[in-house]
Amino acid sequence: MEFTTNSLEQHWMPFTGNRDFKANPRLVVKAEGMYFIDHKGGTVIDGSSGLFCVPLGHGRPEIADAVRDQLLTNDYTPPFQMGHPGSFELASKVARITPEPINHVFFVNSGSESIDTALKIAMAYHRAKGEGHRTRFVSRERAYHGVNMGGVSLAGMVKNRETFTNVMPNVITMRHTWMEENVFTPGQPTRGAELAEDLARHCETYGGSTIAAVFVEPIAGSTGCLVPPVGYLERIREICDQHGILLVFDEVITGFGRLGHAFAADAFGVTPDIMTMAKALTNGAQPMGAVAVKDEIYETITNASPEGAIEFFHGYTYSGHPAACAAGNVAQDLYQRDNLFERAGELAGYFGEALHSLKDLECIKDIRSYGLLGAVEVKPQGAPGALGTQLQKDLFWNGLHVKFTGDSGIVAPPFVAEEKHVDEMIDKLRATLSKI
Ligand SMILES: Cc1ncc(COP(=O)(O)O)c(C=O)c1O
Repeated sequence: MEFTTNSLEQHWMPFTGNRDFKANPRLVVKAEGMYFIDHKGGTVIDGSSGLFCVPLGHGRPEIADAVRDQLLTNDYTPPFQMGHPGSFELASKVARITPEPINHVFFVNSGSESIDTALKIAMAYHRAKGEGHRTRFVSRERAYHGVNMGGVSLAGMVKNRETFTNVMPNVITMRHTWMEENVFTPGQPTRGAELAEDLARHCETYGGSTIAAVFVEPIAGSTGCLVPPVGYLERIREICDQHGILLVFDEVITGFGRLGHAFAADAFGVTPDIMTMAKALTNGAQPMGAVAVKDEIYETITNASPEGAIEFFHGYTYSGHPAACAAGNVAQDLYQRDNLFERAGELAGYFGEALHSLKDLECIKDIRSYGLLGAVEVKPQGAPGALGTQLQKDLFWNGLHVKFTGDSGIVAPPFVAEEKHVDEMIDKLRATLSKI
């Protein structure tokens, strides 16, 4: 297939070196099961489930059929003051697997929108309780909460925020949880729970009663799989409870089985007040995200308005889009029918060991893993992230897709992967990393 420079020029690609890409494009023309086919006919195994959103593998006919049928039956229903059955069905399926008492689900179209929605829910909740003075939010260094203005304000990844300074005031930051002492630890590190005391210090400095919510990714995913130390999330929960602060788990990556449980909240035994989710909700087949909240949050906000009035002035034209719900309903059924969260948990041991077998390579700085999520961090060469960017390209031409952020390659096989697929990913990683 021939591509002229002009034919690629008009699309301004996201999070991509546009000039570099267009000079040497990597185009996927087909995706099936565990593999992509590129425009030169090469086969590329998907080592990151796309962007962590395709646990069932690519091209599932059950999902495609459901979306097609939905579009032919009812392609679009305005989501304000109207509804269609699919969104209620999907909300109950999601609520069934979220921890109690998280039973109310607000639909959005992406992870970024789920974060900005969660910020607004936190504000609306405190206001409804007469605590509108809670105007501060707490986030973490190296956090990734999407790219909308609220999420960028919470962001701890330097490149994502440096151009867009001071977008939302009143965000304070805790330290991240990467520690030199914990390198090459599979699973949860035992050192580092004391980092949660950053939150206690913020409560002391700013007053706990001025803080609306704390946002954490239970495992910081995009920055390269920083697994929380044992006791860390429990302590964050405890401090939030002491001060009436809402705890938000950003489960956009960890949600829907990635850690061998429905959510990280289950894997780590800590229940937040609000959960954001997106990837894997529809197996990546339709854009969709969601925010799930405790009953008390939903009831406080809805009961604060007179009967008949709109209670929460927020929503998107495509919230709960019929085609996205159709994809989500089938994806959720397949996860349950094939016990895929359990399967992810079963494969996790093999995957973790295989990933950690790369430790002997000279270029490796650290390897981290939990469930079917792991990261291989290389020692930087030149500017931070320069080597990672090069490696993502080299790996692609060597037949492996792994998403690099900075110098960490984030490996997250689909749940339908078999041991032989994990082996193929690790062999390809070894072959490419050995050449550095
Ligand atoms: C933890 C987390 N939150 C939010 C987002 C943003 O999701 P989206 O790219 O769908 O807007 C991501 C995306 O990687 C993420 O990992």
